[in-house]
Amino acid sequence: MADKISFEAPRGMRDFYPEDMVWRNKVFDAFRASGEAFGFEPYDACVVESYELLARKAGEEVGEQIYHFFDKSERHIALRAEMTPTLARMVAQRQKELRFPLKWTTIAQCFRYERMTKGRKREHYQWNLDIIGEDSVLAEAEVIGAAVDALKRMGLSSADFKVHVSSRKFLGELLQKSGITPEKHAQVFLALDKRGKMPDSEIAAMLRDGGLSEAEVEATFGIMDTKSYAGCAELEELFALAETAGFVDSLMFDISVIRGLSYYTGVVFECFDTAGEFRAIFGGGRYDNLLTTIGGEPTSAVGLGFGDVVVTELLKSRLGESAAAGKKGVAVGFMFPTERDAAVRLASRLRAEGERVDLALRPQKPKKFFSHADQSGASKAVFLGPDDVAKGVARMKNMETREETELCLT
Ligand code: HAM
Repeated sequence: MADKISFEAPRGMRDFYPEDMVWRNKVFDAFRASGEAFGFEPYDACVVESYELLARKAGEEVGEQIYHFFDKSERHIALRAEMTPTLARMVAQRQKELRFPLKWTTIAQCFRYERMTKGRKREHYQWNLDIIGEDSVLAEAEVIGAAVDALKRMGLSSADFKVHVSSRKFLGELLQKSGITPEKHAQVFLALDKRGKMPDSEIAAMLRDGGLSEAEVEATFGIMDTKSYAGCAELEELFALAETAGFVDSLMFDISVIRGLSYYTGVVFECFDTAGEFRAIFGGGRYDNLLTTIGGEPTSAVGLGFGDVVVTELLKSRLGESAAAGKKGVAVGFMFPTERDAAVRLASRLRAEGERVDLALRPQKPKKFFSHADQSGASKAVFLGPDDVAKGVARMKNMETREETELCLT
């Protein structure tokens, strides 16, 4: 006999049982509704990409996490770890025909060979919102505003989360004032992004490896204490726009937000729960050079990625495990085989009227039927016995109020 196969999904991969789908749908519904409310057009793409497109600059964590393999024709293939390189490829392919600015959105399944921690899986869905071809900070305000809107649709308030905002341009200027030349900045950003995740002594070592002198390392740590964005025009404008749009209470300046991806060029942001219990809920920023690095025309871009894992954990903890389940649909059952056809007819009629109907597949005792209907979350239930069919009238029970109304069967 063959060895027994494990019933568990491969480590870090996810199965979605119906009770998990209820949560996933709640989260995806909010993603889609906010994307639509903010005027983003949906798009999609292949999960498999050429490794060449996805390979990252040295030092970027996500580069080391890519699942990749050779296909039967020796093509070097990879599963996408994020959507942004694919989006850049799709835009570059049609750059002459597309009308800019583009506002595109998708919910993409992404794969990363991560060290497994709370909120981090090896597979996740990531809602992406991107505006391509717009220099104005209103683009940043719109993508952040849409993500805040999605969190509110899911049932959270601005007391539950904050979007931490900074600017790589601003940080770059501060570094330059301390004598750290721009060619060293990429290395400094990667090192500073590790703050909080590793001891400062190791970060200092990374900075020294990046060519910084002892005084420059000290100056860099000093810059990380900056508490005000005064003098940074793009952040001043972003906060003013957020005030006008009505979500400034969800924003805060935080110089320590750097982002681990090297393609960001300007405003960067990451959203965290206020209690500081979870990993980042979403993150993004401005990336004006990505299209040119893959061979496209220079094009400005802003976007964000918002995963489903952390937000679902946060929602369950703040709203309760059962918060996603809503009462819905009509359960239709019957007592004996002789009532089956009447039940089928009634189910068809109710479905044609737009009801969601869960038709019992076999005869049942009334007690069993009603207890099943209750557990399955039906809002109404109709049970057909021989007398009901003979009279041509049944009773529809409201499962919450227990009230009954008559229903004609013919
Ligand atoms: P990221 O910060 O690497 O950015 O990922 C964005 C979000 O995806 C994270 O904040 C988190 O919610 C979720 N996420 C990432 N990795 C995992 C994981 N292993 N398990 C669960 N959730 C995860 C990007 O990927 C950028 N491409 C976002 C972007 C779009 N920037 C511009 N446009």
